[in-house]
Amino acid sequence: MKTVGIGIAGLGTVSQGVLNILKVQQALLAKRSNARYEVVRVVSRTAKPDVDLLGAEFSHRLEDLYEDPQVDVVMELIGGESPADQLIADALAAGKAVITANKAVLAVKGDQLLGKQSVQPIRFEAAVAGAIPILQAITAGLAGNAIHAVSGIINGTANYILTAMEQDGVSFGEALAAAQKLGYAEADPTFDVDGTDAAHKLTILMALAFDMSFALDQIYKEGIESLTAEDIAFAAEFGFRIKHIGMLRRVATGLEARVHPLLIPQSDLLAQVDGVQNAVQVSSDSAGTTLFSGPGAGGAATASAVIADLVALTRGGLGTNPTSTAHNAASSGMYVPLERANDLAVLPIDEVYGGYYLRMLVADQPGVIAKVAQALSNHGISIDKVIQRPAAGRTEQVDLVLLTHDALERDVNLALTELHGMFEVSGEVSRIRVAPVNT
Ligand SMILES: NC(=O)c1ccc[n+]([C@@H]2O[C@H](COP(=O)([O-])OP(=O)(O)OC[C@H]3O[C@@H](n4cnc5c(N)ncnc54)[C@H](OP(=O)(O)O)[C@@H]3O)[C@@H](O)[C@H]2O)c1
Repeated sequence: MKTVGIGIAGLGTVSQGVLNILKVQQALLAKRSNARYEVVRVVSRTAKPDVDLLGAEFSHRLEDLYEDPQVDVVMELIGGESPADQLIADALAAGKAVITANKAVLAVKGDQLLGKQSVQPIRFEAAVAGAIPILQAITAGLAGNAIHAVSGIINGTANYILTAMEQDGVSFGEALAAAQKLGYAEADPTFDVDGTDAAHKLTILMALAFDMSFALDQIYKEGIESLTAEDIAFAAEFGFRIKHIGMLRRVATGLEARVHPLLIPQSDLLAQVDGVQNAVQVSSDSAGTTLFSGPGAGGAATASAVIADLVALTRGGLGTNPTSTAHNAASSGMYVPLERANDLAVLPIDEVYGGYYLRMLVADQPGVIAKVAQALSNHGISIDKVIQRPAAGRTEQVDLVLLTHDALERDVNLALTELHGMFEVSGEVSRIRVAPVNT
């Protein structure tokens, strides 16, 4: 049986989960990969004496990981763009295989780090949707399919907040505070609530599912900060739930790549995914629609994906006996497109077509609905459904909430400008996109 030497960067949530699986599943892993795993080195900023390092040497210099000839695979589990980018590049250059859970570095520097080669000894299953083996599903399980669409709930914190707002009727701020108290949101939750984290993950999904570059700047992004419990309640009256969704969709004119809140029919599978759970739905030509769901975060769940990458690399040749090179394992690196499909244009959000939910505070006077309908109609937009309700705490205004038929986003923006200019409409019109059919 060969030995695989492991070097781990970081000693946080995911690293501790990895160490734990390597400890408790030693026999199972040996059987499944015909290898003995040895944690040779752990490098982190702060020592944690109470964590069992399984006999590894601890130090603070990241270079120690790839300078050690006993290390076959470097696990980058420190997070953030820098110095993670340098560590990954240096480890690959030193002939080590690399496993990373770091979506931020891949979304921004994926092309640079992975190069133009189709296969490198690098895997990053844990970077998208935690425990769910979605990258393996897309690159291997669905390899024989042309993929039409990938859409998913890929940030558990945002999904927890929306679920709490819906089920408990609380505000965004209250739900966020509860998420932080329960450890579901970081002290600085910016990337979770403003959509950046979901955009990082969608960039990786876009590269792998559509043979594209890792181009974070192509993804349109909106967060959940401005959603209200009222919007969630009105959406429910129309038969929808509001989810924060990452969506890639091939249409006749190109690829839609967007992250934003979305009204999804209550009966859709994605609408059933609550709390910190993640789910990704893939539509492809032969396999049809497949849905993958499970825990999107957490030490043990994320470590499960890291260990899956380790086993895949080992089965592909990683290990010190009889020959010791990561190149043996290169064929089991994650698939990255050899030729990037430059012909697939990512559409600007203005060119996206779909239904819209609009909520506005309007004067309680005869003829106002007709005026609003006219403003929409001036831009080719027609109304599908309307709810009018007395606005809480106001006697002279009502909430006017409507769903439009499919329209071009550019036209909706023009209509919103016109609505904002009407004296009967007070404040901002709230606008949320509605799920296109067959996402
Ligand atoms: N947590 C999850 O549920 C989850 C899920 C999916 C993916 N991920 C990804 O997994 C990676 C690790 O996340 P995590 O939650 O385990 O993070 P974490 O708990 O914050 O742990 C990060 C560890 O790396 C160390 N570190 C940070 N910068 C360092 C540097 N420059 N040099 C040496 N050590 C450094 C930290 O040291 P200190 O102890 O001194 O801070 C800490 O031990 C991230 O890329 C994250 O996005 C996490």
